Amino acid sequence: MSKEDILKSIEDKYEKLGVPVEAMLEGLLWSKPITYWDYIQTDALLGLQIPRTTQPDEMVFIMYHQVNELLFKMILWEIDQVAKSTEISAEKFTKHLMRISRYFDVLSSSFSVMGDGMDVDQYLKFRNTLTPASGFQSAQYRKIEFASTELINLIDARFRDTIDRNSSFKNAYDHLYWQAAGKNYSTGQKTTLLKLFEKKYMGEFIDFMEDYNDCNLSKKFKQLPEAVQKDEELIKAMRHYDYTVNVKWVMAHYNAAGKYLGGSDKELEATGGSNWRKYLHPKYQRRIFFPYLWSEEELKNWGTF
Ligand code: HEM
Repeated sequence: MSKEDILKSIEDKYEKLGVPVEAMLEGLLWSKPITYWDYIQTDALLGLQIPRTTQPDEMVFIMYHQVNELLFKMILWEIDQVAKSTEISAEKFTKHLMRISRYFDVLSSSFSVMGDGMDVDQYLKFRNTLTPASGFQSAQYRKIEFASTELINLIDARFRDTIDRNSSFKNAYDHLYWQAAGKNYSTGQKTTLLKLFEKKYMGEFIDFMEDYNDCNLSKKFKQLPEAVQKDEELIKAMRHYDYTVNVKWVMAHYNAAGKYLGGSDKELEATGGSNWRKYLHPKYQRRIFFPYLWSEEELKNWGTF
């Protein structure tokens, strides 16, 4: 575009907005040049790491969780490029799914930062200051689940066959698989972990569930023309995503939890209070976003391959 064309387009744009173009151009005369630190907001970002203890490795724990939350945000952003678009081709679907999978690959392969990157004795000291908090309370993680699959696949496996599929979003919410980790299994009472989580996010989650009910990744896939649904690259991308989130990441997380909480004589209780050995293992949890893309054999052996 020539300089004249650019100026003309700017003029047209501001005229449409009803903003005097002269004032806007004069503003440019006085504006400060952009810098890396203003654009990336490094001061704000690097001011968010506040340990609660004297243990240096707590910094590793805080920062790695923050890195995870940033990647979760990148994942939700990419999911929206599929969920919120009206016309979607197999290529575009695959492209965004591969981006999402790459982010989860990073999360899975980097989990050794947790597993190998902290001294156990330091972890056991600073974790006491964190009870009753847990990564369980990551709202973005829950949103990734809601935005990836139909609610039925997130219902506790024990109720999946009997729950009324047309019941309210609140009823579905009450039967989500993760409710089990937030209840005392002998009394059925909700734990503080779950009560606080719900007080902050339940309303937002129910709106989010409704928003993505018809445009989550699985629904979007099923809305593609049949021939496109058979596209091998697309199926490969969907399976890769399902496996990375629901087996690879889950196992990396489970193994890290085992290193810090597992013991030869006695297992430690999780800060969030769940029966974590059972709750976190994919073979019991059976969270599968796209079950129709796996064979019976694969489904039977979920979490063990
Ligand atoms: C040494 C490091 C870690 C340990 C020992 C650990 C342990 C646990 C345990 C025991 C639970 C079960 C809930 C509970 O009772 O607390 C849990 C849940 C969870 N943690 Fe971690 N965790 C660690 C690091 C992380 C990191 C870095 C993330 C990233 C955000 C994370 C995200 C989650 C999520 C999303 C859940 C819920 C999983 C689900 O509902 O399936 N955790 N964690």
